[in-house]
Amino acid sequence: MNLQEQIRRDFPILKTKVYNKPLIYFDNAATTQKPRIVIDTVADCYASKNSNIHRGVHFLSEQLTDKYEESRAIAAKFLNAKATEKIIFTRGTTESANLVAFSFGEAFINKGDEVIVSEMEHHSNMVPWQIMCERKNAKLIKLPITKSGELDMEVFPKLITGKTRILAITHVSNALGTINPIKEIIEIAHSNCVPVFVDGAQAVQHINVDVQDLDADFYAFSGHKIYGPTGIGVLYGKTKYLEKMPPYQGGGEMIKKVSFDKTTFNELPFIFEAGTPNYVGAIGLAEALKYVSNIGIEKIAEIETDLLNYATDKLKDIEDIEIFGNAKHKSSVISFNVKNIHHSDIGTLLDKLGIAVRTGSHCADPVMDYFGISGTVRASLAFYNTKEEIDVFVAGLKRVLGMLR
Ligand code: ALA
Repeated sequence: MNLQEQIRRDFPILKTKVYNKPLIYFDNAATTQKPRIVIDTVADCYASKNSNIHRGVHFLSEQLTDKYEESRAIAAKFLNAKATEKIIFTRGTTESANLVAFSFGEAFINKGDEVIVSEMEHHSNMVPWQIMCERKNAKLIKLPITKSGELDMEVFPKLITGKTRILAITHVSNALGTINPIKEIIEIAHSNCVPVFVDGAQAVQHINVDVQDLDADFYAFSGHKIYGPTGIGVLYGKTKYLEKMPPYQGGGEMIKKVSFDKTTFNELPFIFEAGTPNYVGAIGLAEALKYVSNIGIEKIAEIETDLLNYATDKLKDIEDIEIFGNAKHKSSVISFNVKNIHHSDIGTLLDKLGIAVRTGSHCADPVMDYFGISGTVRASLAFYNTKEEIDVFVAGLKRVLGMLR
């Protein structure tokens, strides 16, 4: 069995049929499918290990608490974080961005301060900052993009002023696939004493991320986009910021002592994990991280780059197609439109052929506004996809376009 067959066997859903046709799943930027080991780990947690963590004196609770904290250590190792206290489990990247926007905002942002956010952000790394800026009377500054779908790196340094308090930026664009020069961006920000929050939701599954090498101040990613369960994510933060940030939510476990006079708070990372955490999700995520690490992120990237180039070449031959996002460095996302045809019509008809793509604005309205469009068709590929699937997709697309023209 070759590597591709082995990989495909690991993902049970790939054998599914849709409308009696073999599923071709090209919506991996929205969520990735789960390998058997992750599904089995989650099922086993509920079937034979379930108990609330950090709260029990009994065997099951202690066993699962250990597994949860082990998962934190696995997430720390995955990002090459120095210590587990810097790893906070959240609901996902959206919650991580909201947490940092709220708590960092409370601690460090005052009236008249500025926050830089790029034009290619997913709404989840833009709206939380906008809400915070409105609350604190601060100003949201736009880092623009270019026609190729890259950040305007000439403009970027000029946006930083003495009032800039933080830069919030995506590592990889979900709508365009652009891989941003994140290390260089962080260096420029740091040379001006500006910390950086990085949205890694579309990056960690394609690129080896080393938060120490990047010197990222905050780095967030979601479990479900890296072959793990839904409802779990990781937020890495530097202690020097986290320890000055007030809690984001109040509740159990985030406290040391509660009284009506005064509540004292728990230490990092627990101060930011109020309530029963998604411990099953965290344990499932750790399995997913082990799974991708065993294959190797470089190997995954190599397979996906090959698929991206193959699919891009084939799509370019289609009459009147326009691909949005032609950055030099791209992840395996292809966003496109075909002249005079609505993106959602294409997606709906492709679905009838068993092909899953996403259509619309991809939660990135400012990107669509920049290009003057309402949305695109987005095919996002993962390492379990194949060139044969791309051939079926391209043939299906041609058929669909023939019907719509
Ligand atoms: N953020 C996800 C996407 O890009 C849902 O589709």
